[in-house]
Amino acid sequence: MSDKKKIILTGDRPTGKLHVGHYVGSLRRRVELQNSGEFDEIFIMIADAQALTDNARDPQKIRDSLLNVTLDYLSAGIDPAKSHILIQSMIPALPELTAYYMNLVTVQRVGRNPTVKSEIKMRGFSEGEADNEEGTPVGFFCYPISQAADITAFDATVVPVGEDQEPMLEQTREIVRKFNSIYGETLVLPDILLPGNLASRRLPGTDGKAKMSKSLGNCIYLSDDEAAVSAAVKTMFTDPTHLKVTDPGHTEDNPVFIYLEAFAGEDNKDASALFAEYAPDYKDLNEMEEHYRRGGLGDVKVKKFLDKVLQETLSPIRKRRAEYEKDIPAVYEILKEGTAYAAETAANTLSRVKRVMGIDYFRGM
Ligand code: TRP
Repeated sequence: MSDKKKIILTGDRPTGKLHVGHYVGSLRRRVELQNSGEFDEIFIMIADAQALTDNARDPQKIRDSLLNVTLDYLSAGIDPAKSHILIQSMIPALPELTAYYMNLVTVQRVGRNPTVKSEIKMRGFSEGEADNEEGTPVGFFCYPISQAADITAFDATVVPVGEDQEPMLEQTREIVRKFNSIYGETLVLPDILLPGNLASRRLPGTDGKAKMSKSLGNCIYLSDDEAAVSAAVKTMFTDPTHLKVTDPGHTEDNPVFIYLEAFAGEDNKDASALFAEYAPDYKDLNEMEEHYRRGGLGDVKVKKFLDKVLQETLSPIRKRRAEYEKDIPAVYEILKEGTAYAAETAANTLSRVKRVMGIDYFRGM
């Protein structure tokens, strides 16, 4: 077992382009960790098999999103020389590990997983709901177990994800403990790594709704051009009680300020430069927030600042994307290499698992 190694595994479902919620929730941190040089290995998984668990009838959507998500990764700063980008469905050890882990988890336990519960509700899978008579696909129900396989197959020690993934990590840790207690120390116990501030953990949609979703049209995508971002910021929800500039305003539950917290808040290393350049009246976000709460600071002004902040963040990402888009075969080559390396790593873990389970029947023959 690679005890002392520091290994990152994380990933996304390719069901569309990645948005700024993905960026502040996880992607930004991955790039920082990658560039910190502190990790022995970094695996970033495009979880297409997981995406298919509730999109079985629309594999084309997953297929189309694969390249988009890869471009989102690369343009956000994931460097293929430092991180392996891999395609989940092309790693045969993963479903095999999943099959053995399934015997260590009860149906009841998965049923209590809060993320699974809320996703089942959101998708109308729950029994008796009018808009979906079909109920929950078994594959979908089991995805937390396959996610445990994703994480353990690479001996991941750190999993940087958004807050919604906390129950998945908890479930993975239970599986690891159970497996190790039955078969002996084999699997590595992973730790979750959440974004530092609450705003980044759960960035709302531009309409203030809890989740960004394509169907609600409340997303800002990493691949959006300058005009699209400005338009989204212009129509963004703010404090509905802040009618006149002089009115005192609310900053909490106000999407514009939540976005500012995520993109120009205290724990953002570029925050003071952003204020110095685009809002020199304020030293930091706290001062701007105080002014807004006191009254006298208009939404248009705050939104103009947010627009600048977002453009500043997204413009290098757009530039890198344009470069990668010039050579798509090279992007596929990156995926191929990352996947081949990952397949080998996961196969080694599977061998180890089968050995400790005593089902490597022909060993030494
Ligand atoms: N469930 C994650 C999501 O919905 C995607 C994912 C699949 C993942 N496998 C993973 C995340 C392993 C972290 C580790 O975004």
